[in-house]
Amino acid sequence: MLPHSFPSEMSDQLKVFFILGGPGSGKGTNCARLVEDFGYTHFSAGDLLRAAAKEGTSDVANLIRELIRGGNIVPSEITVALLKQTIQEHPNPIGYVIDGFPRKFDQARMFEEDIAKAAGIIYYQCSEETMEKRLLGRAEGGEKRDDDNAEVIRKRFRVNVEECEPVVESYKKEGRCFVIDANRDKEEVYNDTKKVFVQLGEKPKK
Ligand code: ADP
Ligand code: C5P
Ligand code: MG
Repeated sequence: MLPHSFPSEMSDQLKVFFILGGPGSGKGTNCARLVEDFGYTHFSAGDLLRAAAKEGTSDVANLIRELIRGGNIVPSEITVALLKQTIQEHPNPIGYVIDGFPRKFDQARMFEEDIAKAAGIIYYQCSEETMEKRLLGRAEGGEKRDDDNAEVIRKRFRVNVEECEPVVESYKKEGRCFVIDANRDKEEVYNDTKKVFVQLGEKPKK
């Protein structure tokens, strides 16, 4: 169970965009630029979970660490509660870009029922070949992660196909999801991303 709800008037004002895509598709990269151009606050569900896992030796921290190390999805109650608390602690009337969430149907349902309905959903479509190259490149570039190695990457791809892509398919059917070809270079991908936000009525700072 989640600890407590946002007051409904606060929930109505919360503007949240879900930024989805397989591991290494470029979610974090594009969110950083959205923050610069539009003034959103960015939270990566994976980053928040990694920080929570580092924080302590509690059973929950240990569970998160083991699940991430194996490429598995952390129980939705934990991730949704973490996101909720983090959003509450960082008020931003301009809005939030939340990346790597929802990864499962129940996460989507819990968040939209209890916190806010997403104002827009972006999906970075990217081949596994491209994503694998990028993840291995990220590891070589010095970003130390337990799960950016060939074996766990394969597992993360499988989880992505089995658990995460069905959520995207369902958003597509509802007509809520903007699909962007993320196989292209960074500039092209971001230009399309920015266009979608402008199309959604969002205003760049400059
Ligand atoms: P995600 O958050 O989706 O896992 P990242 O944004 O961390 O992915 O990107 C993974 C790696 O790929 C990073 O090293 C990033 O610099 C690189 N990258 C991201 N987008 C592109 C792109 N369009 N072309 C080439 N490399 C990219
Ligand atoms: O998005 P990112 O690649 O940083 O996620 C890393 C890991 O964090 C995932 O492989 C998964 O173990 C965990 N995660 C999760 N639920 C989410 C987002 C991330 O369990 N919604
Ligand atoms: Mg990321």
